[in-house]
Amino acid sequence: MPARPRGRIRERAPRPSSSPEVVFEGRGYWRGKISALEIGVDEEGIITQVGRNVRGGRRVDLGERLMLPSALDLHVHFRDPGPPGSPESFASGTKSAALGGISAVVDMPNTVPPTTTPERVIDKIARIQAHAQIDVIPFAALRPDTNVARLARVASGFKLYLAPTTGDLGVDTGTDVGELLREAAATGLPVHVHAEDPRKFNPRDQPRETDAWDRSRPEIAEISALEKLRDHPAGMRLHVAHVTSAGAARLARELGASSEATPHHLLLSTSLFGNSFQKVNPPLRAESTRKALWETFRDGLVPMVASDHAPHSLSLKEAPFPEAPSGMPGVETLFPLLLETVRRGDLELSRLIHAACRNPALHLDLPRGRLEKGCEANFLAVDFRVRRKIRAKDLSTLCGWTPFEGREAVFPLEHYLLGKRIVDDGEFVGGVRGRSLRVAPLLPKKSPHLPGSPPVRAP
Ligand code: NCD
Ligand code: ZN
Repeated sequence: MPARPRGRIRERAPRPSSSPEVVFEGRGYWRGKISALEIGVDEEGIITQVGRNVRGGRRVDLGERLMLPSALDLHVHFRDPGPPGSPESFASGTKSAALGGISAVVDMPNTVPPTTTPERVIDKIARIQAHAQIDVIPFAALRPDTNVARLARVASGFKLYLAPTTGDLGVDTGTDVGELLREAAATGLPVHVHAEDPRKFNPRDQPRETDAWDRSRPEIAEISALEKLRDHPAGMRLHVAHVTSAGAARLARELGASSEATPHHLLLSTSLFGNSFQKVNPPLRAESTRKALWETFRDGLVPMVASDHAPHSLSLKEAPFPEAPSGMPGVETLFPLLLETVRRGDLELSRLIHAACRNPALHLDLPRGRLEKGCEANFLAVDFRVRRKIRAKDLSTLCGWTPFEGREAVFPLEHYLLGKRIVDDGEFVGGVRGRSLRVAPLLPKKSPHLPGSPPVRAP
């Protein structure tokens, strides 16, 4: 089914000037293929021309490195504002994202205090402008007690928590979800849903490992929550966060919603780990469920990936399982882990580029995520031969741990934000140049589904 109209994206981009200030040359992913590529970029950081024989401007030769669009992570918790000693901030989280090849993130509202009023959104925007090193898109909470229309004037979208999780923003099980969605749909902004139905939880015994955590918040709770979305207004920008199973992904599609899967649900399962560091909402699932989710994602039926980067301090995660908070960090490892699956031949490069770059940008109607004229020059230089093992001590997140310790990953060697280098040879060289991005309201579309993509293998 068709994506949001492309023309619109070009309209909103600043007008490209005819002659580029700088031309990046090498190889790159363009229009579904890897080929020799030149990218002209003007002084505003907008792509003026892509292809061969791009004339004018200073030349930057990227040699054998592959130019790929940088990614957009639709789901992070940067804990800013947060209580003193918070294990993340806009400064640390955006640096971490930049090193992981991500040039924009959607920041979720379960901060301390939560993003539930226009004043708090405005405060968040000020924090972003003061500290962010990549772009940040602030979302507000969608609850029966929030003023949706007023929030929509400053926030870029809404998060609806149908279950309790970190931050106490979960709505009561008796909430009229249809009514909330109608209110949000009228704003024309996207609504992302944490879909778990507490009525299907099994809290009888206190779970002490991930397998029991899975049984206590089972897949059926996710399906039941998705059913609550069934009578949403046609064409609204409805998006399901972190689907954990092929069934949930299928149902989201059937409902006309887009969806995301996280690297932890795609790559980890209850068979691998058991302690509270792997405690997350919704839970990791059994290996067979993980495998089926991976195949569904690989086949293009989960249109997007997102990290659900949820940094909790080591000391909180070291608590006994019942008391430990749910959530795991992931913004820096999202794209590198999946690039490694491409390198191994487990995933088509085009599928990854669609899921991490193009589709999230189309979903938010932002001129990025593609190496095309009129889009922002947010891109990476990657060498699939340069891999390294993920080590918490090498990551920039302040939380000091990762569930992916020891896994191989392909980290970008260079990252350009609006044509200016922010990562050089794997080191952060950027500055406070991130913007608080505003997602513009869109009238309902006929089809909210995002398209699949033709297969392209990594070199
Ligand atoms: C998230 C967090 O810690 O902010 N935790 C999690 O387990 N995913 C909240 C959330 O997205 O549920
Ligand atoms: Zn989350």
